[in-house]
Amino acid sequence: MLTVCKHPLIDVKLNIMRDETTKSKEFRESLDEIAGLMTYEVFKDLKTRELGETIKTPTGAILPKVRLENRIIVAPILRAGLGMVDGVKKMIPTARIGHIGMYRNEETLQPVEYYFKLPVVDNPLVLVVDPMLATGGSAVAAISAVKKRGYNNIRLMCLVGVQEGIKAVQEAHPDVDIYIAAVDEKLNEVGYILPGLGDAGDRIFGTK
Ligand code: PRP
Ligand code: URA
Repeated sequence: MLTVCKHPLIDVKLNIMRDETTKSKEFRESLDEIAGLMTYEVFKDLKTRELGETIKTPTGAILPKVRLENRIIVAPILRAGLGMVDGVKKMIPTARIGHIGMYRNEETLQPVEYYFKLPVVDNPLVLVVDPMLATGGSAVAAISAVKKRGYNNIRLMCLVGVQEGIKAVQEAHPDVDIYIAAVDEKLNEVGYILPGLGDAGDRIFGTK
């Protein structure tokens, strides 16, 4: 399933990120805020569970204490995915964090895995996050790596993608729901998204 998280608040923040004059600080803040807004959509079907304990409201009412039924793991694809972690964490403070070290070889556009660590949790829902879904190679490889460790309840949250990347993920992992804020026009000759927002990792970390 593909969900395009179309919302005026997201559109305005994404527009700020697309602007080449936007500096790293505002770029990161906008990404963080969009990640938080998208989290609302991504997890809207989650169930809550009563813990068998109670809370008391200031008016004296006794209510059951509830928690999310699933344990959530947020797994950013490094580096750029790191920029989405805090936004998710603000919404789900109990989420655990994994790290998927992967970069795209700039000539072949093939993903190269260099690090992988996920928390060990019973039956988690793993949210793989990365702002950019270009050829889809990185997301496909990252999801395969998560599955290889035995986790099969996986969702993918991206900011900007193109049809090519969406199709690649849907074909390789039809069981993984994709959430995205914008589907852009195409890739350019060096694999960058058009209109896109440039190199997300470099803009987040100020490396160019
Ligand atoms: C970017 C981006 C994705 C990948 C998308 O990462 O954050 O992980 O490219 O491209 P794809 O869909 O064609 O695989 P990059 O390789 O630039 O690494 P970085 O985040 O460390 O800058
Ligand atoms: N990675 C990026 O950071 N930006 C793109 O447009 C494509 C891949």
